[in-house]
Order: sequence, then C-alpha cells, then structure tokens
Amino acid sequence: MKKAVLTQTLVAAAVLAISGTVMAGGDVDAGKAKAAVCGACHGATGHGNPAFPDPMNPGKTKAVPALAGQNAGYLAKQMEDFKSGARKDLLMTGQALGLSDADIANLAAYYATAAGADGGSVDAGLAAKGKSLYQGGDMARGVTACMACHGPDAAGNDSAGWPGLTGQLADYTTAQLNAFGSGARYNDPNRMMQDVASRLTDGDISAVTAYIQSMDGVVASAPVAATTAPEAPAPEAPVVAETVAAPAAAAKEAAPAPAAAPASAATGGAALFQAGCFACHGPMAPALNAPQIGVKDNWAPRLEKAGGRDGLVASAIAGVAGTAMAPKGGTALSDAEIGAVIDHIIAQAGL
Ligand code: HEC
Ligand code: HEC
Ligand code: HEC
Repeated sequence: MKKAVLTQTLVAAAVLAISGTVMAGGDVDAGKAKAAVCGACHGATGHGNPAFPDPMNPGKTKAVPALAGQNAGYLAKQMEDFKSGARKDLLMTGQALGLSDADIANLAAYYATAAGADGGSVDAGLAAKGKSLYQGGDMARGVTACMACHGPDAAGNDSAGWPGLTGQLADYTTAQLNAFGSGARYNDPNRMMQDVASRLTDGDISAVTAYIQSMDGVVASAPVAATTAPEAPAPEAPVVAETVAAPAAAAKEAAPAPAAAPASAATGGAALFQAGCFACHGPMAPALNAPQIGVKDNWAPRLEKAGGRDGLVASAIAGVAGTAMAPKGGTALSDAEIGAVIDHIIAQAGL
C-alpha cells in the first residue's frame, strides 16, 4: 500500500509536469443547459448508453460512456482531445468541434457534479480475480497496479486529470482497455495507459472490469463480503499541483489537426455521411425534422416517392427547397460521392 501511494505521487508529479491539466471553474447551470444535446447519446442523466447504434458497423451497437460523476479535469481534457484530434471517435469528434473553451469548462463542471450510476450485476469470482490485479498489478509481467494511478476506490485523481472508473458501463471500460492496448486510443500522457493495457490478456480485462464494476456495490453471487468490502482507504497522495508550472499551451499546439474523413471504397459512404450529413441526419435529426440515419420508417416513404435509389440521389443533389436540406446538404461532394452516401443511408435503414 505504501509503495502504491509513493508510485501515485511520483507519477502524478510527472504527469503534471508534462500535461498540466488545469480546470478553470465552470458554470454548472450553463453546462446543464448545454448538455441537452449530449443526452441524445450519453443519456438524459449522463449515465451512458450501453447499446447505441454504431453508424460505422451496421447492425452493431457501441457503448457510449457515462459522464455523470466523472472528474471535471478529465472530462475537460477528453473534450479538448476530441476537438484537437488527439483522441478520435466518429460520433464524438463532431460534437467536440463545436464546443468553446467556456462550453468545455461548463459541461465538465456540470457532469462532475451530476450523480453517478450504480454498477450492474457482476460475477463475484471474476471480480475477486480482478481485485488482485487492480490492487497489486503483476510484477512478473510488468503490469502496474491500476490502483497506483486510479486510486484504491477507483475515484481517479482530479488534480492530475486522471479518470475515475466507477459508475461506468462495463462494455465501455472493456472497449477502452482494448483501444489503449492496440494503440487505437493514444491520448494518454507518457503512454501510461497504453503501456499497462498492452500487457493485459482478454481474461485480465474481463476480470479487472468486473472488479471495477463491483465497487459500485452490486454483486450478483455470493460471497459478497469477500469481494466487495472496500479496503481501508489509503491516505490521498499529496498532489504537488500548485508548485508545478502548467505548459498546457505547448501541449495543445503539438496536437494534430483532425484528419479529413477517409474515402476508401469500403467505408467511403459511411465516412462521407459522418463528415457532411451526420450533423442533421444523426441523433439530432428528429429535432431538425430531418430523416434520421438507421430509422427505416423515416426513409422508406422518401425512397418510394423519389422512385428509388437514383431518385433519392437526385433529390439530395437538388436539396429540398424551403428546408434545411440545401443542395448536396451544403457540402462540396461530387455526384458520385452523394451516391455513395445515399447507398450508405439506404443500407443503414435496412431498405
Ligand atoms: C452522437 C453521439 C454523441 C453525442 C451527441 C455526444 N457524445 Fe460524447 N461520446 C460519444 C461516444 C461514442 C464516446 C466514446 C468514444 C470512444 O468510444 O472512445 C463519447 C465520449 C465522450 C467523452 C469521454 C468520456 C470518457 O470517459 O473518456 C466525453 C467527456 C464526452 N463524450 C462528452 C460529451 C459532451 C459534453 C457532449 C455534448 C456537448 C457529448 N459528449 C455529445 C458520443 C456522443
Ligand atoms: C501510470 C498510471 C496508470 C495506471 C497504472 C493505470 N492507468 Fe488507467 N488511465 C490512466 C490515465 C492518465 C488515464 C486517462 C488518459 C487520458 O488522458 O485520456 C487512464 C484511463 C483509463 C481508462 C479510460 C477511462 C475512460 O473513461 O475512458 C480505463 C478504463 C483505465 N484507465 C483502466 C485502467 C486499469 C484497469 C488499470 C490497471 C490494469 C489502469 N487503468 C492502470 C493512468 C493509469
Ligand atoms: C443542415 C442540415 C442538413 C444537412 C447537413 C444535410 N441534410 Fe439532408 N435533410 C435535412 C432535412 C431537414 C431534410 C428533410 C427535408 C424535408 O422536409 O423533406 C433532409 C432530407 C434529406 C433527404 C431526403 C430528400 C427527399 O427527397 O425526401 C436526403 C436524401 C438527404 N437529406 C440527404 C443528405 C445528404 C446525403 C447529406 C450530406 C451530404 C445531407 N442530407 C445533409 C437536413 C440536412
């Protein structure tokens, strides 16, 4: 335990020196007002959505994370990372691009104060296995204990901008451990998560995810006490925040600009849709009176009225006079590209 606390202190100091995440106090009420849009994907209470339709994988779903109760510094850093392109996600990037620095501070303040979710039911045996990895790591395999950075109760470290892990959807936690492990997510300072996650097996990941979930207090099978009794909390490691200068601007400057949507043959229509049409035909569509991606009833009558696929392509190219649907949706796509997008829309609608 002492050793873990020491590690936490040292690593905290190192991260502050390079990332210097600073949270200017945001306005909770302004954040709450702004969060109405976020609820379409993150849930009205910010508890996440375990089965959001994945626009890139027809017929599949993806877990949209819970935000409620998360540390403000971490939330703000993620929004900045999505905005700069340091972290990538086809659903989230477009959302972050529209956020000002003030929006980010306000949204982070709001979600940090919102009540977190309870965990679902968990396999107690699996959670017990995960507990030893979480608390002790695996020296032989070079796996650092999760506790060293995320804390004994997985509350994270707000001053350092490190996330809490409780109150999160298990599928999302699993997906992020896999993403860090494969390098698909790489916005962690000093590769600290990539290094840990790349050493985890699938079995480790399901066990440690189960343990994290069990900390929310709900465990399916006995013996409950043996696996969920929280350890006596370790004293918070003193974080050396005030004394460390914050070269945040430099870190921001170095971040790459968001990449243009790839236009390969296989994903062309989907990626072009995401870049040019998603803002109106995505989850916000009902509010804009636009037909929504993946909703068959929204597209079937239009497809029929247009006389089929080619007719719908022509309609998208011409736009719908008197509505928000400008010619080509206001994009500079070629006719062939609009065709590829319409093929994607039709396929997503199951038509
Ligand atoms: C169209 C769906 C969608 C909308 C709308 C949306 N998000 Fe997200 N958001 C996502 C997805 C999906 C992820 C997870 C990406 C991944 O898997 O890496 C995410 C991730 C995040 C994260 C990182 C969470 C973590 O634990 O690392 C933050 C913070 C976030 N979103 C904030 C917001 C805010 C604030 C809004 C509203 C302004 C918003 N999102 C609107 C889909 C959305
Ligand atoms: C050396 C410090 C360190 C260790 C050890 C560590 N983490 Fe992390 N972890 C981080 C940091 C920092 C982040 C946030 C990176 C960023 O800024 O995006 C993170 C992010 C995560 C996330 C993503 C959270 C989200 O909301 O998207 C998960 C899940 C996670 N860690 C789980 C684990 C598990 C499980 C272990 C142990 C097997 C572990 N971590 C060990 C520092 C650490
Ligand atoms: C600024 C918002 C906006 C954007 C961006 C946008 N659309 Fe639309 N779109 C709409 C609205 C609103 C409608 C419904 C118009 C109506 O009332 O019939 C619509 C309708 C459509 C229709 C149905 C037309 C018909 O004949 O019924 C197609 C096809 C379409 N959009 C394709 C696209 C494509 C492809 C893109 C991206 C290249 C795109 N839209 C971008 C708002 C938008």
